[in-house]
Amino acid sequence: MKNDLQMPFQTLRWQGGIDGSLVLLDQRTLPGQVCDLICTTVEETAEAIRTLAVRGAPAIGVAAAYGLCLGLQTAGTDEPLDKGLEQLQADMVTLGRSRPTAVNLFWAMQRMCRCAEQCVRSHPGGIAGILRERLLSEAHAICAEDKDMCERIGRHGEPLIPDGGAILTHCNAGALATAGMGTALAPLYVARSKGRQFTVYVDETRPVLQGARLTAWELGQNGIQATLLCDTMAATLMKAGRIDAVIVGADRIAANGDTANKIGTLGLGIVAKEYGVSFYVAAPSSTFDLSLASGQEIPIEQRPGEEVRSFAGVSVAPEGIGVYNPAFDVTDADYITAIITEKGVLRPPLSKAIKDYLELK
Ligand code: MRU
Repeated sequence: MKNDLQMPFQTLRWQGGIDGSLVLLDQRTLPGQVCDLICTTVEETAEAIRTLAVRGAPAIGVAAAYGLCLGLQTAGTDEPLDKGLEQLQADMVTLGRSRPTAVNLFWAMQRMCRCAEQCVRSHPGGIAGILRERLLSEAHAICAEDKDMCERIGRHGEPLIPDGGAILTHCNAGALATAGMGTALAPLYVARSKGRQFTVYVDETRPVLQGARLTAWELGQNGIQATLLCDTMAATLMKAGRIDAVIVGADRIAANGDTANKIGTLGLGIVAKEYGVSFYVAAPSSTFDLSLASGQEIPIEQRPGEEVRSFAGVSVAPEGIGVYNPAFDVTDADYITAIITEKGVLRPPLSKAIKDYLELK
């Protein structure tokens, strides 16, 4: 990545060698407080994912890969390799229970598991220390590849940002959601590095406010001014012809292109189609789940009612009122103009484009 595209903060990093720890930029306290959260166990990592200290599909995947390395620290380096593999499988269950929708979590864990199984096969009678070394380098590889995929998404998406145009984004699919410069925000960073001027509108993204707290902060850290709006205002902006394109991230994309992303994305897709606004999804290959034929099969996380009953810690609804709080919705492929990936821009018919893309080396 060129120097002018380096992010001024680090969302997550591994500190030290095989006995090291996972350092997360704690997103629960942004933008008020910028502080690190250090995870030293797999349980702490699962809790950090569940409570949104680290969030965003690709970042969750990378954190889980490092979380598995933390779990293996409990197996002594001299113990038999099989013991390490058993530990890994138990830790995958712990991490897998943290959040169900982002497939990147399961993708990263399966990749770590395949790597562990291969290590056991190629070192009969070996010790867990070998496994720990091997898995830490796999987690580093997952992290480095994620950075690279973000950069490529940025380069493929950059031509879609019109000079003098206006882009609307929802939630946070930027650097805070990945190990690199993000997915949905990456084309904006690349376009800006080439001197292009544009306006960015940021949905606040109720109830957890990832747009207001995270995207607005992240863009500001990168010198990009943004305009914040309540989610309910986006339709009016689009109807007024003031948005050229909507760009969002994804938590899971089914084989037919149906896309799970932050709650509220579906509404944006419907409105964008109604008013002839381009609607782009930006995502790396780790976000596609070809085992699911359509979005109907994507598991949707339900979050605690308290997130809706209160605002910034202050109660805004009658105590005990029932709450509907799905964290994600599914935007039907029909509403998606194109999917920006690390290998290029996929256009409808999406089922075929996705199949061809995932087969591309
Ligand atoms: O609940 P969150 O904050 O993890 O939701 C994140 C999103 O919906 C993002 O748009 C998605 O994970 C893509 S991140 C590149």
